[in-house]
Formats: sequence, C-alpha cells, structure tokens
Amino acid sequence: MDLSKAAVLDAIASEVRACKKCGLWRNRKNAVPGEGDPNAKVMFVGEAPGYWEDVKGEPFVGAAGKFLDTLLAEAGLLRSQVFIGNVLKCRPPGNREPAPAEIEACTPFLERQIMAIKPKLVVTLGNYSTAYIFTKAGIPFRGITEARGKFYQANVLGLAVVVFPTLHPAAGLYSAKYKQLLIEDFRLLKAKILDLGLAV
Ligand code: URA
Ligand code: SF4
Repeated sequence: MDLSKAAVLDAIASEVRACKKCGLWRNRKNAVPGEGDPNAKVMFVGEAPGYWEDVKGEPFVGAAGKFLDTLLAEAGLLRSQVFIGNVLKCRPPGNREPAPAEIEACTPFLERQIMAIKPKLVVTLGNYSTAYIFTKAGIPFRGITEARGKFYQANVLGLAVVVFPTLHPAAGLYSAKYKQLLIEDFRLLKAKILDLGLAV
C-alpha cells in the first residue's frame, strides 16, 4: 500500500521531469513535481514554481516557502507529514500568472497525484489552485477572497474530500492584513485536522 503509492508518485515525477506538453519546459532549470508523504491525509496545492523552486526542483523553498513552514507549524503540521504540489510543474517566466493552455496541459499530473495520494483534506493556496479544485468539485468560484477560510465538503475526482481554500502564502509577504488572514486560516485548519482525526 505505502510502497505502491510512492511508486506511482515517483513514476508521475519522472514523467513531469521529461514533459514538454507546454512551452514552459524550454526555460526550466528543473521541473517541480511536488513532494511529501505519499500517504499524507492533508495535501497542499500551490500555483507554480518560482525562482528558487526552479533552481532546486522542490516546491515552496523560497521566501513564500519559509512563510508556509511557519503556517504549517501554526496548524501543527510538519512538511514531512503532508504532500505539497502545484497546478503548474514548471516556472512561468518572470513568475507571470499561469496561462489557461498551460493549466490544461499540466493539471493531468496534479489529478494523478491526487488520485494516488487520496487525501482527506485539500488545502488550496491562492486563486489558481482554488479555481482548479472548485471546478473539479463543481463548486462555483467567485474569487479567493470570497472562497477562503471556509471548509467545503466536496467530491474531487471521485474522492470525498474536505477542501479548504486560503490565500497564497506570497500574499502574506507583502500585506500585513493578508498575513494575519493566513495565520487565522491555518489556525482553523489545525482545529479541523483535530476534528477529523487526521493529526499524526
Ligand atoms: N509558489 C507556489 O505557488 N508554488 C511554489 O512551489 C512556490 C511558490
Ligand atoms: Fe509539462 Fe507542466 Fe512543465 Fe508544461 S508546466 S512542460 S505541462 S510539466
């Protein structure tokens, strides 16, 4: 069970590293397939690799990643206990926003990761990942500001999951208000994890 999930995720990661399905492969130093515990009950979905993620091939290792570590601690979580993935696996030039065609080309990888991991709780970080998961779940999306900080019982790709949208951690780096909202959301997340019996 454990081994097969890890093997499936490794196979997906290998495909991602060789992928040329959209133009973003041309500028990448490293693709960022995502990483964490294959048996994680809680999965985080970000937007796309930035500068340092592209350099290292790992998700959330730049400034936003450092803040994410603080937020995870606020929720009583360690990085090693969760899985962290992104909507796009390669860095958009200059960290521009993902293009619709790139999202369409890349999200089959994220779908396969979700189906392999079978998380109980999916935390979406920011607009793009929330829009993507809400669409999969058939939940109307009216922007992250309205969606965030609430728990949605949903069916995503045939899996019963709780979806919890929050702001992208990068937003907390340029706005004290957003930083506070993120901290509050991750405290709510901690309570939910305890409530659902997902704490490890
Ligand atoms: N921002 C994201 O959305 N994902 C990362 O992996 C890093 C920064
Ligand atoms: Fe392939 Fe996704 Fe990278 Fe585009 S962003 S090349 S679809 S892995």
